[in-house]
Amino acid sequence: MLPFTAVFDSGVGGLTVLRALAQRCPRERFGYFGDNANAPYGNRSPEEIERLAFAAFRRLACHPLKAAVVACNTVTAVCVEKLRAAFSFPVFGVEPAVRPAVLRGGKVLLLATRATLESARVRALLAKTGGCVRAHCPARLAGEIEKNIFSLARADVEGCLAPLSRGGYDAVVLGCTHYVFVKERIEKALGCPAFDGNVGTADHFAASMNICSKITKKEGAIAPFFLGKAAKHNKNVYFSLK
Ligand code: DGL
Repeated sequence: MLPFTAVFDSGVGGLTVLRALAQRCPRERFGYFGDNANAPYGNRSPEEIERLAFAAFRRLACHPLKAAVVACNTVTAVCVEKLRAAFSFPVFGVEPAVRPAVLRGGKVLLLATRATLESARVRALLAKTGGCVRAHCPARLAGEIEKNIFSLARADVEGCLAPLSRGGYDAVVLGCTHYVFVKERIEKALGCPAFDGNVGTADHFAASMNICSKITKKEGAIAPFFLGKAAKHNKNVYFSLK
């Protein structure tokens, strides 16, 4: 097997990051692993999330890895540093795109899972924003998206956001990669633009790994491949992305 970069999430959410990575680095080999059987992670305890993330990484580390991208805010927030310390390949994480939202000014809402919002990492990030960012966890939202991924019209996005609809926010930050699948509906429900960190993650990855984003017609792009029990499911979701 040729060396590749592993992209990992609890389920389908990381596919939105994979798309940004594949667009930014079309000649890079990406292998996606989703732990769909255990998704969603966000309402679990930090210990459980760490245990699941380490189990996934141990499996991935059996392959010739160039690097790994934790395409999950929850795992990044809970244990990315521990993963970095335990494995010899570079480990990238994802961060909520709080900065660009705050720079616009006004009232900002961060939406993320419970585990992400309770983590020391994200609490430190919010502390730096000087109090203009409110945080909220729509507890059922990632699960709704995971469960209804092929029929998203059925996902109760608006119901999950109902307590926030009169919040008068100027921007919303999508601090969970699952939420990117319903970005437009979140914008509509809250009446403000939504920010996700996927392009920023891909740019950071490309710059750190020194990867050129150019492709020649002759070479073409390399399609990502999919690992694990949910490989076929995740492949179908990925290739159905607009
Ligand atoms: N997509 C993940 C995140 O970015 C995980 C959501 C979940 O499994 O609860 O947080």
